[in-house]
Parts: sequence; C-alpha cells; structure tokens
Amino acid sequence: MVLRRPSRREFMAGLAVTATGLTAGRARLVFAATPADPLVLEARPGATQLLTPQEPETAIWGYQGNAPGPLIRARQGGEVAVKLVNRLEVPTTIHWHGIRIDNAMDGVAHLTQEPVAPGESFDYRFTVPDAGTFWYHPHVHGSGPQLDRGLSGLLIVDEASPPDIDQDVVLQFDDWRIDEDGQIDTESFGNLHDAAHAGRLGNVLTVNGKDFERVDANPGDRLRLRIVSTCNARILELGFGDLDPWIVALDGQPVTPHRLGEEPLVIGPAQRVDLIADVAGEPGGRFAISEVSGEPFEAAEIALDAAEPRPVRNYPPESLLPNPVAVPDAMPDRTIDLVMAGGAMRFLESADYRGETVDGRTLAMDHGMVWALNGVAGMPEESLFTARAGEPVALRLVNDTMFPHAMHLHGHHFVIYDDANAALSGLRDTVTVEPRATTTIGLVADNPGKWMLHCHMLEHQASGMETWFEVLI
Ligand code: C2O
Ligand code: CU
Repeated sequence: MVLRRPSRREFMAGLAVTATGLTAGRARLVFAATPADPLVLEARPGATQLLTPQEPETAIWGYQGNAPGPLIRARQGGEVAVKLVNRLEVPTTIHWHGIRIDNAMDGVAHLTQEPVAPGESFDYRFTVPDAGTFWYHPHVHGSGPQLDRGLSGLLIVDEASPPDIDQDVVLQFDDWRIDEDGQIDTESFGNLHDAAHAGRLGNVLTVNGKDFERVDANPGDRLRLRIVSTCNARILELGFGDLDPWIVALDGQPVTPHRLGEEPLVIGPAQRVDLIADVAGEPGGRFAISEVSGEPFEAAEIALDAAEPRPVRNYPPESLLPNPVAVPDAMPDRTIDLVMAGGAMRFLESADYRGETVDGRTLAMDHGMVWALNGVAGMPEESLFTARAGEPVALRLVNDTMFPHAMHLHGHHFVIYDDANAALSGLRDTVTVEPRATTTIGLVADNPGKWMLHCHMLEHQASGMETWFEVLI
C-alpha cells in the first residue's frame, strides 16, 4: 500500500468537503505525572484533524480522545502514576513500551493483568529507571485495531543532566488507513491477507497527529529530535536532506554519537531514534524531513526564523549518560533459538495451536493463524525459556519467512551481536529481523516476571507471532 502525505487534491473525488475553519496545530499536552497526582488517561472515542484543514475530521479512539495522547514526562528514577479509565466499548490496558518496569505494571492482558473492562479503571504506578524516549499503547489480544484507531502516546524520561541542546523536539510518525470519506478504514481490521503479508499498512502518514509538522528554530540551534514510529506494520525510511544529524540513542538507550550519513533513517514499528542536529543556515531557510521508502514526500520541516542566529557549535554532541542496564560480558553460552515461520509464500503446513497440532489451512481459516514461532501459533502455554535472576541469555532470532519482523522483548533491553559475536553499540527493545536472516541478541534476564516477546507488526502478532519467557526472582 502506497504511503503519502494527506492531500486535498487526492481526497477531493467523492468527498463532501466540509467547510471547517483553519485548524491550527493542537497544543501539545505535557504532564509531569507524579504519584501524588496521578494523570487520569481516558481511553475514549474522539475526532481529530488528521488530514488537511480542507478535509473532514477523522473519528478516532485516543487517550483523552486525542491522537497522539498526552505526552507524559518524568525524571529518571522518578515515579509515574496513571489511572487508565476505559471509556471504550472493548477491554483495554496500557503497556509502557521500553520501560524496564515492574512486571505487574507491564499492561499485558492475561499475562500481567486482567484486561480493563469498559467503564472500569486501572492504576499504573511504576518507577522509570532509564532516561530516554518511550511510548505507551494498549496491549490486549488483537490490540492492533486499538492502535490503528489512534490509541498511543509518548513517555519521555528526562536525564538528570540533560544534553547541551536548544530545543527538544518530538516527532511521532504514524500511518493510518483512511478511506474515501476521510475515516479510518475499519473494514480491513482482521484482514487475513494483510496479516499474512507485511501487516496492515496505512496510506496516510501523520506527524504528531497532523498532516504536516513544522518546527521553528533559530539559525544555529542544536536540536534533539526524538523520532518515534507508532506505525502498526510499516517500516519507515526518513530522509533529512542536508541536516546530517547524529544518532545519539536507539529505543531510549544511548549509543556512541555517529552521523546518520547519506542513507535514510530506517525505523521499524515501535522503534525510537534520538537525533541531535545543528540547524545551520540563514533566516528563512528550511530543512525538510521526508518519507522516502516509496515516492518521496515531505512530512515535516524545520523552519529557520529570524530571531537570534547563534553560532553553530563546531563540535559533535557528547554521549548521553548510559542507563543502568546490565549487559552480558560476552555472548552468553546459553542460546535459545526462536524460529519464525509462515506467512505468504511460505504458508505453514501445520503448527501447534492451544496444545493441539493443527494443519495450516485450518489454522488460517478457523483460527486466523498464519505465523508460528518455534512451531507454535499464538501464545504457547509453556514459556520459551525460564531464566534465573541475572542470568545472561542469547536469543537467535531466525527469520525463516519472506517478510521482515520487528521483534520486541518486554521488560529488558538487549544487545545485538554482529557476525563475529561482538556486541554492536547501544541497546534496543525492538529489532527488525530481515527476511531469511538471523539476528542474535543478548540480555541479562534480571527483571523478574513473565514477559512477552513478539512481532510488533501487530497483525503478525495477532496471527501467531507471540511468545513469552519467565525470569525467576
Ligand atoms: Cu509495544 Cu508488546 O509492545
Ligand atoms: Cu512480523
């Protein structure tokens, strides 16, 4: 499915264009949620101007009825307290993606908590051990449609001593599947063809919930750009023109600063990349941020205004301080294989499903299952592995399918090993494993509880690609 920026032109056909006034960008809500004063997050229907102002509003589901939901900000080592109130007609939860959290607060329905029924609420309260860029979203079985309707938001944990920057900018990218009436295409929820291919791809890209995002900066400013993909399935490729940013963190965890270079920034579902960039140039200049995986189009810009040009810093950014994450000293001896199978062009012949061996056709037709992990479709009864507290473990993620998969591990961050078994710089919580490729990761399993490991292409998860592991106390 081709991705594009919302545009009036393409939408005119068959559209009753509503004459709404100009809609300026929504004010960004910022909350410092503290235990004394929990932030009440209402998951509820709403409507928002996802498309251009000439087009209709789109009915969504969102936290406080907005997409994205409120930006939650906390201090490293501090506590976050959120009361989720479910004003939807379906059960929901909140998962705090990438936070090395107390297991009871991880928000995974049926694994760490009961789903929150319509009209009910749930109190989340947890400490945030790591500074960085994180996000939150529902985590019930088949939560894909809930995210696709707009339920997600960012959680930013600030460093005790922040880096030397002039502006901290959030750019949350999301793709939406919008129909001719400018509304969310709900007919395609649960579509098995999408599930067996690359997932449910959107056709419209928004940044911070808008058709186009403009960031104003002074010439010479040093910006931190927090790039977040909350797409369900699409792998974005972002071009930054002449900006030439440094990559300083991946999935919330610092890396040795290095230039992005000529290549586009590739960012899979659920991943985050923190950039630092100096905006050199004259007042009136601009830097476009484009999506370039297909026909390139601009999604956002940094516009230089006249205010007060300052000299561009002529030195690279310092490394962010590392978070207190334990990493294996060397590649762990204990290695667990996770073999991904199924999907279009390599359909499953059979797999275990709820304790029984089921043939591929029945799996697909009767149960909507088209993928398997280690021969099991859907959540297995037995954990993939059980680790002693503090045990180093390696996982070989073997992709025996024709599609990439964004594999996400809960409660921990992991290193990625290169072909020589040397750990790459940085830690991740989500890694894209290319078709027919194997990626080996390593972690110290030091967070007790039951944790999920799944594909974050949410239609893949719903149609088979999920499992769990347990860390003992
Ligand atoms: Cu972003 Cu299992 O989740
Ligand atoms: Cu997948």
